[in-house]
Amino acid sequence: MTDHDAILAEIEAIFAANGNNRYSEAVTQREHALQAAHQAETADSSSSLITAALLHDIGHMLHKFGPEPAAQGIDDKHEDIGAGWLAKRFGAVVTEPVRLHVAAKRYLCAVEPDYFGNLSPASVRSLKLQGGPMSAEEVDAFENGPHFAAAVALRRWDEGAKVSGKNTPGFEHYLPHISASLTG
Ligand SMILES: [Fe+2]
Repeated sequence: MTDHDAILAEIEAIFAANGNNRYSEAVTQREHALQAAHQAETADSSSSLITAALLHDIGHMLHKFGPEPAAQGIDDKHEDIGAGWLAKRFGAVVTEPVRLHVAAKRYLCAVEPDYFGNLSPASVRSLKLQGGPMSAEEVDAFENGPHFAAAVALRRWDEGAKVSGKNTPGFEHYLPHISASLTG
């Protein structure tokens, strides 16, 4: 088995073990991931960004806080847990949009007056724990970061990936994109 095959097997095992956990009442973690990746692919994104979309919430499947930590007042920092795990396997084009997808929610809530209305109830609860909408200074700094556009795109797909019963390609469909994004 090559290193690449071993990493693919590792990711498949994480989804096999935790993919059926609820993301929300509407979708499981697997459905949420597949719907996010499907939107990224439909938008003609790079393999790296499709991979970031697929794996953006892997931190939720790696931590032990249970299904919805925000309901207990806990910020699980799943974006940092996920990005840290991914950084041992992928480059910044995958890890940074993942790390920034919570910041992108805080950004979009600050710059788009209607954005807050797109958030699921769970996202509204976690937003408060994550610091609420960005300040003007934070907005400015965020817009000047190298992964700004990718993080905002990923965040919009995240919001759109909570549709009960939506048909998407399965996990296997994305394996070539993951493989093409691996470093080393
Ligand atoms: Fe998500």
